[in-house]
Amino acid sequence: MTIRLEHLRKSFGPVQVLKDINLELPEREFITLVGPSGCGKTTLLRIIAGLETASSGTIYHGETRVSDLAPGKRDVAMVFQSYALYPHMNVFDNIAYGLKVRRTPKAEIEARVREVAGVLEIIPLLERKPKQLSGGQRQRVALGRAMVRKPWLFLMDEPLSNLDAKLRVTMRSELKRFHLRLETTTIYVTHDQLEAMTMSDKIAVMDGGEVQQYATPEEVYNRPANTFVAGFIGSPPMNFLPGAALADGELSLATGSGARTVIADSPLAGKASREILLGARPQDVRVHAAVADRTFAAEIVLVQLLGSEKLVELAYGSGAVLTAQVKADSPLKAGQKVWVGFDPDKLHLFDPDSGRNLALESPRLSDPA
Ligand SMILES: Nc1ncnc2c1ncn2[C@@H]1O[C@H](COP(=O)(O)OP(=O)(O)OP(=O)(O)O)[C@@H](O)[C@H]1O
Ligand SMILES: [Mg+2]
Repeated sequence: MTIRLEHLRKSFGPVQVLKDINLELPEREFITLVGPSGCGKTTLLRIIAGLETASSGTIYHGETRVSDLAPGKRDVAMVFQSYALYPHMNVFDNIAYGLKVRRTPKAEIEARVREVAGVLEIIPLLERKPKQLSGGQRQRVALGRAMVRKPWLFLMDEPLSNLDAKLRVTMRSELKRFHLRLETTTIYVTHDQLEAMTMSDKIAVMDGGEVQQYATPEEVYNRPANTFVAGFIGSPPMNFLPGAALADGELSLATGSGARTVIADSPLAGKASREILLGARPQDVRVHAAVADRTFAAEIVLVQLLGSEKLVELAYGSGAVLTAQVKADSPLKAGQKVWVGFDPDKLHLFDPDSGRNLALESPRLSDPA
């Protein structure tokens, strides 16, 4: 069943935490709600689960309006951000509990618990009590308890937050494989943009109680709707640099004391000249040791090795900075004077006031080159 959220709003007293949420969540897809702490992700998930009531708006499962249906009647399984296990039961019984209550045959319970425990790498822990587990192990038991039920809808709130970096990566792909196999509609909450990018069919990027963009990971990355999405998705984050799109067809960057440097052709040629905010991801910034066409002078402030890449922090103009990402074997050094340019096809243009991506407003900009 497709889930539809129409004009959902939620206030706690005078504080409005969700403002007019409209989303369509297609059946069998893996949808992620991502955004900074406090943006309303948990609140929205709890409203979908029926644990919280919206102040206004409607939720549909298929054509059925469910806004007033009790959580038990919705047959959804939720993994909470703060999870509680039954302290007196061992891990096996904690995971099996929901199946026992539903009078599932014993052999089937055994098989299903072992299956999810295998996926979550907790088979050696099945006999232990929760207090004998680490936080990350408990979190996986809580996840197992939801997965074993095979509900029609999974709601997961930061289910991997307590795991170490390596285990997170493993669990990310295990969860994704589990989803590909069962195709259970999943709504997944995280503040980790990489988790959202790698796991999702669609991402709803939230900020300040609003959905800023709802699209596929590719779309959100390549055509971010506004500067918030552009800055939140992608690591290291996009550079934002004040510039101008000139009527004569040139795109220029403000390089200090009123100076401007032409850096690319403008996709807005022929339109009135205007101020813009240029967006350039660090991997689309080019650093040259010698002067080149359409570059400006900068000085390297800091070089950080990431492994296969280096991050180069550059100062230009009167105190502006930007970050470039270069290959690890690049000989660039702090203190060096360089010339900086951009991959012209990868530049993003934003309205400096509204923050909106101009490509979404001007059809010419969205034409494939
Ligand atoms: N019961 C409540 N009463 C009052 N305010 C609340 C209540 N629950 C949440 N809020 C507020 O609503 C906003 C959204 O909270 P929510 O828990 O949905 O954020 P979140 O996106 O899940 O954040 P996090 O990533 O930190 O978990 C926050 O500003 C929070 O303080
Ligand atoms: Mg939360």
